[in-house]
Amino acid sequence: MAIMPKADDREGVAPIAFIDLVAQQARIRDKVEARLTAVLDHGRYIAGPEIEELETLLAEQVGAEHCIACSSGTDALVIPMMALELTPKDAVFVPAFTYNATANAVALAGGTPVFVDIRPDTFNMDPEDLKIRIGQARKAGLTPRLVCAVDLFGVPADYPALRAVCEAEGMELFADGAQSFGGEQDGRRVGSLADTTGTSFFPGKALGGYGDGGAVFTQSGEMAELCRSIRWHGTDEARAESVRVGLNGRMSSFQAGVLLEKAAIFWDEREARRRVAGIYDEGLDGLAQAQAIPRGTSSGYGYYTVQVDDRDAVRERLSEAGVPTAVYYRTPLHRMKAFARFLPETPLPNCERAAERVLSLPMHPYLSDAQAEFVCEAFAAAVR
Ligand SMILES: Cc1ncc(COP(=O)(O)O)c(C=O)c1O
Repeated sequence: MAIMPKADDREGVAPIAFIDLVAQQARIRDKVEARLTAVLDHGRYIAGPEIEELETLLAEQVGAEHCIACSSGTDALVIPMMALELTPKDAVFVPAFTYNATANAVALAGGTPVFVDIRPDTFNMDPEDLKIRIGQARKAGLTPRLVCAVDLFGVPADYPALRAVCEAEGMELFADGAQSFGGEQDGRRVGSLADTTGTSFFPGKALGGYGDGGAVFTQSGEMAELCRSIRWHGTDEARAESVRVGLNGRMSSFQAGVLLEKAAIFWDEREARRRVAGIYDEGLDGLAQAQAIPRGTSSGYGYYTVQVDDRDAVRERLSEAGVPTAVYYRTPLHRMKAFARFLPETPLPNCERAAERVLSLPMHPYLSDAQAEFVCEAFAAAVR
């Protein structure tokens, strides 16, 4: 076994944070405080001017026709799914290797989740396996209605291939972009890759608020209108009466104010994330299998994730060196009690294997080159 280097022994390297929200706050604190003060002054804590300002800015940034700010990334999926008026007879295809919110959203909106395997290199939904699961769903008496792909760790799913399947089957295509704000594919940004996209502003996300928040992006005016209504208890334009079933999915004006300042530095931060990823790509080459990013696609680098044998031992050794890591996810959804009753009954081998091998390394815009290089050095020692 190689001797582990220690971050503490290196000048200017320790501590290494998995995600560093402190450095970011120091950069924008004055502006955030001014935004919070503005909300205190105008007093419109709900539906203040910050909401529309944020929606306009984000829609512009990602090239979407419409943006609807809401209370969480989960609601950013539930709300547009409710707009489709799903029933338990409707199959909604989701990958099994994702956060539980993706499948919860389907069930909460009244549909039936059907789990699909992932590609072993990108960790995203496998369009070939999707075709198999569509056949299985039909056999079980379900109607294929919707595909909700997930851009895991920041890498957009294979939207051209998924769209082809959806068009052939007459299904809608949604993106769970909770982890991929800032990602791109074929010159378009996450938020405009699928018919409708939900993203999350959970504090640890690449664009994270100071509390829960999310947004729906859509190219459809009709979908946008439905989402705005459902977000406010399904009310009509005057907000006088409920014309459909809805929920309270609103974002607070304080949160929108914070996010406006975070969004202003987001693309600069994304460049910094790319710098860190470049150092990892080079330094880990031959040591671990990094998540594959297909040609024409770029990651938002919410996370930097590799596959490695003997993952938990490597993780422990990295921790000894002062390198924090995380495992997303140890259990694929079809193995969780809440979802075990849903299809398929047949195995999803790539999800199972990824769950045993993935390891996410520190990733944030404020990692220095020296810190990223140290992570690579420690990783090399940990796998030897
Ligand atoms: C893939 C995925 N989908 C959905 C969500 C839900 O977002 P939120 O926690 O903001 O509700 C998350 C957040 O962690 C996520 O990672």
